[in-house]
Amino acid sequence: MADSTEGAGRAGVVGLGTMGAGIAEVLARGGWSVTGVEEQPEALARAEGRIQTSTAYAESRGKLAEGEGAVVRQRISYRTGIDALAGCELVVEAVPELPELKRSVFARLDAVLGPDAVLATNTSSLSVTALAASTSDPSRVVGVHFFNPAPVQPLVEVISTVLTSTGTLERVREILAGLGKTTIACADRAGFVVNGLLIGYLNAAATWYERGYGTRAEIDAALVGAGMPMGPLALLDLVGLDVTVNVLQRMYGQFGERRFLPAPLLSSLVEAGLLGRKTGRGFYTYDGSTTTDAPGVVPPPAASRAAELPEALLVPYLNDALTMVGVRYASPATVDTGMSLGCRMPRPFDQLAALGPVRALAVQQQVFAETAEPGYRPARLLEQLAAAADPDLALHALRAAHL
Ligand code: 3HC
Repeated sequence: MADSTEGAGRAGVVGLGTMGAGIAEVLARGGWSVTGVEEQPEALARAEGRIQTSTAYAESRGKLAEGEGAVVRQRISYRTGIDALAGCELVVEAVPELPELKRSVFARLDAVLGPDAVLATNTSSLSVTALAASTSDPSRVVGVHFFNPAPVQPLVEVISTVLTSTGTLERVREILAGLGKTTIACADRAGFVVNGLLIGYLNAAATWYERGYGTRAEIDAALVGAGMPMGPLALLDLVGLDVTVNVLQRMYGQFGERRFLPAPLLSSLVEAGLLGRKTGRGFYTYDGSTTTDAPGVVPPPAASRAAELPEALLVPYLNDALTMVGVRYASPATVDTGMSLGCRMPRPFDQLAALGPVRALAVQQQVFAETAEPGYRPARLLEQLAAAADPDLALHALRAAHL
């Protein structure tokens, strides 16, 4: 990451929760003078503390040179009013996912920013297009979807709408490249590429747990054993259960598939205010730097099906990747870049190659038979690959054809 660059311009971030604070840090590390905006002084103080902790940790891990953390922190100022953003070249909005709130922030930004400024949203569950259309110049509105933790994950999805100008897209890509981020281009569709694959997998893991098919430890360990950087229940706590439910609801609204209805347990945890790490408790309980396995939620025991993991959770996710390629929303390379750089997961098409299309089809058929859920029907591409004379070669050819 370009940590000591000087001379970039002025940027703003509105909303300094987990993601907004991370994005402000990323911009400051790229040499930008950043103004962070929150409504309440207490929220600004929390964000400042978060950035202090993160930059100090980055220094301790050698990701920032000694003393560089202080330089980065000095590039960030904290304000309570959007007016302070006048003159910024780029503003990233990262307020909670409430349509009315976002629209009012966009209306203020629209009035305060100069005509050449880029207006970006980090939304993961609302239509970028609708937000753009509510402004006086939708051509300068774009989605920039960062991944948690923003200073760590190298990916940003850049979401263009039917109204975004090429100039805006080029400028945003250039800025993100200057921050050391890799971008993938996404059309404005529920979940974009990464959440479009990740969130269904996480919901399935929550369902699996809720039904008592495995303990938290069994489920998480099985997926870590399959190469994931963390188990799905721990990842849900990191992402935030509220964020997950919001994305699921949008995906259900757009695709109408029952499997995207939030697992009842997820909804209950959100209603109870147990949103994951940020509130100290979700599937696990967090006490400072310690993660405990208790008290948490313990569903009624059932006959363990842990032996079926990780295939039972991973194959439907790989099936979704093939569906995404089949409808030409993303290429295999884009999917691989998205999951490996957004979530540090193995590349899905490598996982599919390791498992083989024939085995993947057999598992998917079983999941489909058990759930009778149309969303779990084997992807046409999976059936075609498995039926090929040489399925492994056919998969190789599919990947090559999109390069
Ligand atoms: N700045 C810079 N680098 C940092 C850092 C910081 N503040 N904090 C940590 N790092 C670096 C570390 O130096 C280390 O780098 P290395 O691999 O080169 O040594 C790396 O990040 C990992 O840090 P740690 O060793 O401290 O931590 P872990 O190894 O336990 O990893 C994790 C923790 C980074 C959270 C990892 O488990 C992970 O990537 N998990 C997946 C998270 C994920 O999927 N995120 C995306 C979720 S989806 C999303 O956000 C979208 C939303 O819309 C839902």
